[in-house]
Amino acid sequence: MKQVPLIIFGAGKVGRALVRQFAESADLHRDRDRLNFRIVAWCDREGAVVDEDGLSAEMLTTITAAMADGTAFPWSEYGNEQDDLAAIVDVAGLDGSIVVDVTASDATVPALTLALRRGYSAATANKIPLTGPQAIFDRLTGSGRFGYETTVGSAVPIIAATQGLVRAVDRVDTVQGALSGTLGFLCTGLQAGQPFSALVEEAMRRGYTEPDPRIDLGGVDVARKALIIARTLGWKMELADVTVASLVPPELADLPLAYFLARLPELDAGFAAQVAEATGQDKVLRYVAELRDGKATVGLQAVPRATALGQLQGNDNLVAFHTRYYPDTPLVLQGRGAGVEAAAAGVHADIVALAK
Ligand SMILES: NC(=O)c1ccc[n+]([C@@H]2O[C@H](COP(=O)([O-])OP(=O)(O)OC[C@H]3O[C@@H](n4cnc5c(N)ncnc54)[C@H](OP(=O)(O)O)[C@@H]3O)[C@@H](O)[C@H]2O)c1
Repeated sequence: MKQVPLIIFGAGKVGRALVRQFAESADLHRDRDRLNFRIVAWCDREGAVVDEDGLSAEMLTTITAAMADGTAFPWSEYGNEQDDLAAIVDVAGLDGSIVVDVTASDATVPALTLALRRGYSAATANKIPLTGPQAIFDRLTGSGRFGYETTVGSAVPIIAATQGLVRAVDRVDTVQGALSGTLGFLCTGLQAGQPFSALVEEAMRRGYTEPDPRIDLGGVDVARKALIIARTLGWKMELADVTVASLVPPELADLPLAYFLARLPELDAGFAAQVAEATGQDKVLRYVAELRDGKATVGLQAVPRATALGQLQGNDNLVAFHTRYYPDTPLVLQGRGAGVEAAAAGVHADIVALAK
C-alpha cells in the first residue's frame, strides 16, 4: 500500500468538498488503487493544523463544519497561526507528499516551488500562480508533477486534451472557448431577448457572480484561462498580452457598485442591437476566448448558430480545437464549467493520477 501525505492550502468551498470526497472514497482508494491518502496539513489564511500521522476524521469534520457555517475556525486551539505556506511544506512534507492549492492567491507560489524542488507533487484549482510570469508557469508545470486540470473549465478535461495535442505534435490552428459559466448564462439570456441589466441582476441573485459583477463582466478571469491553454500549447506570453474586451464600458468601470447597478439599463439597447445584428446573419453572441495566429483575444463575438459554440446553452463551458488532425470537425469538449463538487472532483482526479 502506497502512503500519500496530502498538504492542503485552502479551506473554502472547494477545499472542504475535496476533504469530504477523500473521506468518502478512502476505502475505495485503498482497495482499488492501493493508495492510502492521509491529510497531514490543512490551512487557510488564518491558521494551520499539522499532524504527520494524518489529521483525524473528527478534526477534519470539526474544521469543515466551522467553516461551512461561516464561523472562523479557532485554529490556535488546535494548531498554529499561519503566515508562511512554505514553512508548512517544510514541516509537514514527507516522501511522496502532494501539495494541494485550493486558494485563489499567488501567495502559494514559494510553497509550490519548494514542494516540487523537494520531489513532491502538486495539484491546483488556482489560476493565479499559472497566470503570473511565464517563468513561474514553466517552473511549476515543467516539473511534470503538477496537475492543473481544474484551472480551466473546472473538471472538463480541457488541459488533458491540450496536452494530448502537444504530445501528438498536432498543429493547432485555432482554439475557441466559452470559458465562463456566468458569461454563458448572460449570452443565452441575451439571445432569448432578455435585457442585459435584468440578466446581470439575476446572475447576482443566483450567486453566479462575484459580489461586484464587474469582476466577471471584465473578462480577466476568462483571459487567465485562455492564457493557461496558450501556455500549455507552448506559447510564451504574459497576461498583459491577452487582448480583453470588457462588457463594462470605461465610464461605468470605476463607479461605486450601487451607481453602476443603477446605470446598467443604459447598456440594454446596445446589447439588444448586437443580438439583432447577429440574428440577421444567423449568428449568436458568445463571450469567446480565442487563440489564433499567435494572438489571444477575449471578448463578445457573433458566432455561427450552427457551430458547437453557437449551440451552447446556459452555464456550460466549451472548447473547440481546430487542428491539423481535426481540420473540419473540431475537437470539442463541453460540460458543466462550474460547481464546487465538480471542481473538487477535478482536483481529486489530478491527485490520484499524481499519486499513481
Ligand atoms: N468554486 C468553484 O466552482 C471553482 C471551480 C473551479 C476552480 N475554482 C478555483 O478553486 C479555488 C478555490 O475556490 P473556492 O470556491 O473554494 O474559494 P473560497 O471558498 O473563497 O476559498 C478559498 C480558500 O483559500 C484560502 N486562502 C486564500 N489565500 C490564502 C493564503 N494565502 N494562504 C492560505 N489559504 C488561503 C481562504 O482562506 P481565508 O478564508 O482565510 O481567506 C479560503 O479558505 C479558486 O482558485 C477558484 O478559482 C473554483
